[in-house]
Amino acid sequence: MLGNFSYKNATKLYFGEDSLQYLNEELPKYGTNVVLIYGGGSIKRSGIYDAVRKLLAENGKNVAEDAGVMPNPTADKLREGVRIAREHKADLLLAVGGGSCCDYAKAVSVSVNCDEDPWEKYYLRFEEPTCRIVPVGCILTMAGTGSEMNGGAVITDHKTHQKIGHVFGEEVMPKFSILNPRFTMSLPRRQMVAGIYDIFNHICEQYFSGEDDNVSDYLAEALMKSVIRNSLIAIDHPEDYEARSNLMWAATWALNTLISRGKTTDWMVHMLGQAAGGYTDATHGMTLAAVSLPYYRHILPYGLAKFRRFAVEVWNVSPEGKTDEKIANDGLAALEAWMKKLGVTLTLSELGATEDMIEGIADATFILDGGYKVLTRDEVVSILKESL
Ligand code: NZQ
Ligand code: ZN
Repeated sequence: MLGNFSYKNATKLYFGEDSLQYLNEELPKYGTNVVLIYGGGSIKRSGIYDAVRKLLAENGKNVAEDAGVMPNPTADKLREGVRIAREHKADLLLAVGGGSCCDYAKAVSVSVNCDEDPWEKYYLRFEEPTCRIVPVGCILTMAGTGSEMNGGAVITDHKTHQKIGHVFGEEVMPKFSILNPRFTMSLPRRQMVAGIYDIFNHICEQYFSGEDDNVSDYLAEALMKSVIRNSLIAIDHPEDYEARSNLMWAATWALNTLISRGKTTDWMVHMLGQAAGGYTDATHGMTLAAVSLPYYRHILPYGLAKFRRFAVEVWNVSPEGKTDEKIANDGLAALEAWMKKLGVTLTLSELGATEDMIEGIADATFILDGGYKVLTRDEVVSILKESL
């Protein structure tokens, strides 16, 4: 049965090849001082930087730059970003990049007008914002996280090996996001497939919970089928606009709060992957890929009906003459075959994890209770060992 919920998404999206021009509609809504947030330089090489700077200049903006946002942005970088935004008296934080830039902008936005240390306030104490939030806009260059239309902001502290996500409310979501699938074409193949697996796993995390007949599960199945189909086109033809645009749009819907309505949601693959990421600083989507199969094989008996449905509805596994266990396992075998075709990393060792990190990663894994099995610490350790 669907429980009680409310639904609103606060982000306005502009999608398509011409979408960057909509900055001309958005920029006049904010004051003069803009902080332009970007990563390690891909936007300079692709020409997006010049195009954005031109539009900012045409709109009379006074721009400060906050560059060098790294994949898996750190607590130290966040403190630097808060300082830059404060000094510039930012009216708008404009993030241009992947999920890391967009997440980081949100984390800065809730911290500019707060005195407390942002890492401690939001990531160790999980407090909600208590000070004025600076608006965020996002120009997305990588499809994957859904950060463009959600309140998530993941930050890593290298000193303590902690990678922690805070999911903020609608007041922190980007006020607008610009999604031009052409901007994703310059992604290296490894980043493209990591993003594709991230999209798929976001859907799985919400799908693998509950037994009810929920409209969210049908939406999830449709999204998964679209991701599989278009990923297979994109790996052979990365320049295929239709495939890249479908992937970009699916990524947004995979994690913009819609398909979690009426669901408890699992998120244990993310908890395991994120904890491993705190130790390895590995690419987010790859950490998920490395722990997924051991985790799903472990919980399959507890969610058998849903894993059977996943096999039949998403992977077209024929149920004829098979037990439910066999059908469900065939579904996971199909998932594995697809992951191999994509070329995602299937072990944590390849991402730099070693046996002696397992206890620490297990300690850093948040154990959630929305999925089919609340893991014990021993189970976490054994799943991590199988993922090595
Ligand atoms: O830094 P630059 O030079 O821009 O290069 C980036 C980076 O090295 C590159 N890149 C991005 N767009 C490109 C490009 N290179 C060439 N052409 C382009 N068009 O790709 C690399 C990875 O970028 P990043 O932003 O780190 O990737 P992603 O979008 O996967 O973001 C990962 C971060 O998001 C968090 C992750 O934990 C991680 O910290 N997540 C955020 C979520 C949310 N807000 O809800 C949910 C996710 O589950 C995830 O946890
Ligand atoms: Zn993710």
